[in-house]
Amino acid sequence: MKRIVVFASGSGSNYQKIKASIDNKYINGKIVLLISNNPNCGAVEFSKLHNIDYEIINDYRFPIEKDKNKQYELVLNSYKTDLILLAGFMKKIPCNIVDIYKNKIMNIHPSLLPKYGGKGFFGINVHKKVIENKEEYTGATVHFVNNNYDEGQIIIQRRVKVDPSDTVDSISSKVLEIEHLIYTIAVEKFCSDNLSINESIIINE
Ligand code: GRF
Repeated sequence: MKRIVVFASGSGSNYQKIKASIDNKYINGKIVLLISNNPNCGAVEFSKLHNIDYEIINDYRFPIEKDKNKQYELVLNSYKTDLILLAGFMKKIPCNIVDIYKNKIMNIHPSLLPKYGGKGFFGINVHKKVIENKEEYTGATVHFVNNNYDEGQIIIQRRVKVDPSDTVDSISSKVLEIEHLIYTIAVEKFCSDNLSINESIIINE
């Protein structure tokens, strides 16, 4: 059974969905730890509620960057981590972690990457741009993490139509629904050793 560590800074709805898919036995894995930079976020609250260990790593606890980066490494190592899931984690993953966990760190992004990815494209900024540019489709992407924001190999991507009546809020909830679905699929495949590293699954329906 794969040992999963989730990184989250916000409400953690993707985290909660993955946990639910583990609980209902769709995913053969175990969330062993949450790492967050934000002790007051929903994801930490959820961990407390479900007795999942959590570790806060931020600049207050580790003002020296080298120490902070080492702490990620020590903690991930001590939990014997097989898979890292970024689920709304607002900090850049340090290079030492990207190197050690190559092809073992996934991220979920609320757009059809490579469109609307990179620095500054997070949260509603993405959806605002999609509307502004009158895109016909938007969607979500699960990808492996490398040293450049949102540029790693795409694992799975699914699109959804943008209607003329859509608002930032309505797109945001449509996309979030897709995120929950495709993240669960990607994690299931990884945990059952059915994920082929160089193949992207693109769902156009
Ligand atoms: C999602 O939109 C995800 O694509 C982005 O951050 C948001 C996290 O949402 N990376 P939640 O905390 O999982 O609800």
